[in-house]
Amino acid sequence: MTRLNDRSDPAKPLDAGQVRCTYRWIVEDDRVLGGIALRHELNDFLLRVAGHIGYGIRPSARRRGLATWALGRMLGEARALGLDRVLLACEVDNIASARTIEQHGGVLEDIRDTELGPARRYWITL
Ligand SMILES: CC(C)(COP(=O)(O)OP(=O)(O)OC[C@H]1O[C@@H](n2cnc3c(N)ncnc32)[C@H](O)[C@@H]1OP(=O)(O)O)[C@@H](O)C(=O)NCCC(=O)NCCS
Repeated sequence: MTRLNDRSDPAKPLDAGQVRCTYRWIVEDDRVLGGIALRHELNDFLLRVAGHIGYGIRPSARRRGLATWALGRMLGEARALGLDRVLLACEVDNIASARTIEQHGGVLEDIRDTELGPARRYWITL
């Protein structure tokens, strides 16, 4: 966790090719239900494939609105960092992730083949 938190700290060096990143964990009764990451900028890979924000929810905690809630909180953090829009990407058939992004006003830019398979790429204006 310390290693991940260091990636958001401007005072700490980054490894080559890394970008600053904020991580948050979704916790209930000391149990981690999921996590979400905000990359502060895009490099070539992030622009093509992965976007600014990625998240995952433990299978037993899905369909409770947690990803939608966590994304909303992280969009607030992105705004506070001064970003004016963020890119999100998901596998083309990942309906749950696509719905999560669309709940927050994601506008589909394209569906493209990437090295991780076909992906939907959305922008959310902050
Ligand atoms: C994608 C993921 C994060 C969604 O988490 P979640 O907490 O279950 O999502 P929410 O409860 O906030 O639901 C978001 C929307 O997806 C819909 N949804 C969730 N699971 C679904 C499913 N299995 N099938 C269809 N729709 C689904 C919900 O109904 C909701 O849409 P609605 O508001 O229109 O009803 C979770 O399924 C996950 O961790 N998947 C594996 C990792 C992953 O795919 N991460 C995203 C990478 S881009």
